[in-house]
Amino acid sequence: MSKTAPRKILVTSALPYANGAIHLGHLLEYIQTDIWVRFQKSRGQQCHYVCADDAHGTAIMLRAEQEGITPEALIERVSRDHQEDFSRFGVAFDNYHSTHSVENREFSELIYRRLRDKGHIATRDIEQMFDPVKGLFLADRFIKGTCPKCQTPDQYGDNCEACGATYTPAELIDPVSAISGATPEVRSSAHYFFKLPDFADFLQRWINDGHVQPQIRNKLMEWFESGFNEWDISRDAPYFGFEIPDAPGKYFYVWLDAPIGYLASFKNLCDREGLDFDSYWQPGSDAEVYHFIGKDIVYFHALFWPAMLHGAGLRTPTAVNCHGFVTVDGAKMSKSRGTFIKAATYAEYLNPEYLRYYFAAKLTSGVDDLDLNLNDFAARVNSDLVGKVVNIASRCAGFINKLGGGKLSTHCSEPQMLARFIAAGDAIAEDFEVREFGRAMRRVMELADEANTYIAEQEPWVLAKQPGREQDVVDICSVGINLFRQLMVYLAPVVPAMAEQARQFLALDSLDWHSRHDIMFDHEINKFKALMTRVERDRIDAMIEASKEDLVEEQKLKDAPKGPLADDPIAAEIGFEDFMKVDLRIARIAKANYVEGADKLLQLTLDLGGETRNVFSGIRSAYAPEALEGRLTVMVANLAPRKMRFGLSEGMVLASANEAGIYLLSPDTGAEPGQRVT
Ligand code: MSP
Ligand code: ZN
Repeated sequence: MSKTAPRKILVTSALPYANGAIHLGHLLEYIQTDIWVRFQKSRGQQCHYVCADDAHGTAIMLRAEQEGITPEALIERVSRDHQEDFSRFGVAFDNYHSTHSVENREFSELIYRRLRDKGHIATRDIEQMFDPVKGLFLADRFIKGTCPKCQTPDQYGDNCEACGATYTPAELIDPVSAISGATPEVRSSAHYFFKLPDFADFLQRWINDGHVQPQIRNKLMEWFESGFNEWDISRDAPYFGFEIPDAPGKYFYVWLDAPIGYLASFKNLCDREGLDFDSYWQPGSDAEVYHFIGKDIVYFHALFWPAMLHGAGLRTPTAVNCHGFVTVDGAKMSKSRGTFIKAATYAEYLNPEYLRYYFAAKLTSGVDDLDLNLNDFAARVNSDLVGKVVNIASRCAGFINKLGGGKLSTHCSEPQMLARFIAAGDAIAEDFEVREFGRAMRRVMELADEANTYIAEQEPWVLAKQPGREQDVVDICSVGINLFRQLMVYLAPVVPAMAEQARQFLALDSLDWHSRHDIMFDHEINKFKALMTRVERDRIDAMIEASKEDLVEEQKLKDAPKGPLADDPIAAEIGFEDFMKVDLRIARIAKANYVEGADKLLQLTLDLGGETRNVFSGIRSAYAPEALEGRLTVMVANLAPRKMRFGLSEGMVLASANEAGIYLLSPDTGAEPGQRVT
């Protein structure tokens, strides 16, 4: 067989921001990329998959401040969390780095200097809102005020959620800084700009040269027609990022050094593994470079990034592969509906490979949004992976062990069917290559149907009861096991953990793409263990409930460091009748217990002077259960009961919170359980 040299492929996913947890929306991208990379590696290509945390910017600086830690400590912690989440979902980077790294500083400075020396950087003063209390310039989203069109208060930045009007933050009535509450001032400062219009012709050619999907090309051409501006790449101190070499007090805007993070992470890998970085990034390189991204960041990857690379004398990407957004049950992921699901929360309840398969089954090469319909999710995984694929192995394995002594037949009784399964690998490979994963999965499931039909028609379980037919049973089941092996080769990029278990069961060295040509004859297999269990709807429901709780916790963290009540937007004035509707009562904490599986909650049994209530309260971090027993507090007694993952919560105890802790309210001595509080 003639062997062609392996392709040199470098693949990236977008770098997640270092100020939040990975959620199911992110995972679409990392899973899509990981499947493609695993497929390439399975085919023997020399493929490297790198990523990093996107660690710079105002949001990260403020978040660290809010938590009372340094930005370095924050990004360190988040990076660990991100990597743990990715590894749970089988997303196997060859390197995971950070944009806050030496390599990234060097490349950022290098690219900036080259652009500057060729005249692609401009400087001019711009006017911006400035927070005089915090001493920093405010991006639009950090300014709120009353809409100048419809007078709705509390509108952020440059558009009104109530009437849809767009405006400049300077037009807001009574603008305030969302960070400090201070009235912002307009101040002027020098900014650095990347002269994107210098690259208009280059970009026009690049966009039309097959480096982006057709839908993206069209979108970009619309932007083109409306013309584009120079890009502001500097921010004033204080900023968490890299200082611009020749401009003290000015920092690179986070989006300048973020894509350069791809180079930095790859350089870090090259240094570790002795790879030749330049052979990937010099113009005219024979390597392929692919960026997988979401449709919200096309502008950065298909305009700024190729222009920056080109301007700095580096090669441009082979392609930017863009995907749509994840919706859950037909709607945008929502914190209050519990459909804003973090990767870690999902993994607590469900097998990550279910999600990998479901995403694969629905992915195309296009940019349409992808709906995670939770009923369909359970049905699809159960019917395809469990009902079709695992079923083939579980039906056949027992007979091989019982009647064949654990060994497959020495010949194949269905060579043509097996040959068809092997040949199908070419079309399936083509689907994977062009990111039509859904089509690949449909082909695999058609093959699985065929295999199941074959076994059902042969009825080995009937033959097994007929004396003298043992060899026929083993022959049939050997075909079944060989077909199963073919399917696992095709599914391995999608469900790597399941494939690894299948590989052990089949006692094979590899399930690489090419290995499907070796038919297993006279081959001893291992005992069959269930490869995957069914998706249970109640686990899905529990995951949704847990996601609602995640929201409650986050809200507490957000609310904690806020100023006095007067600044609190939720403390709107209410009438006396409204107040009287709230039934506040003195309660005695009769019992307090830890709640298994909830690290924030305590379960309280509250005595209301005769009546008892069960209440779950997020005060575990501040109180040991024994310290609470016997103590009096105040509760809302007429709050509608709330079904939680651990049981029904029948009310709420009152506490305040700040960064340092949580403070349960106590009445003065003499108050008695059950008394109304007014
Ligand atoms: N830090 C930037 C990317 C810099 S790349 C040089 C960023 N980070 S992000 O954390 O907000 O998003 C990371 C990736 O996840 C992006 O490609 C984004 O499109 C994708 N997704 C985030 N939410 C998503 C969904 N709900 N659905 C699908 N993809 C989503 O952007
Ligand atoms: Zn308005």
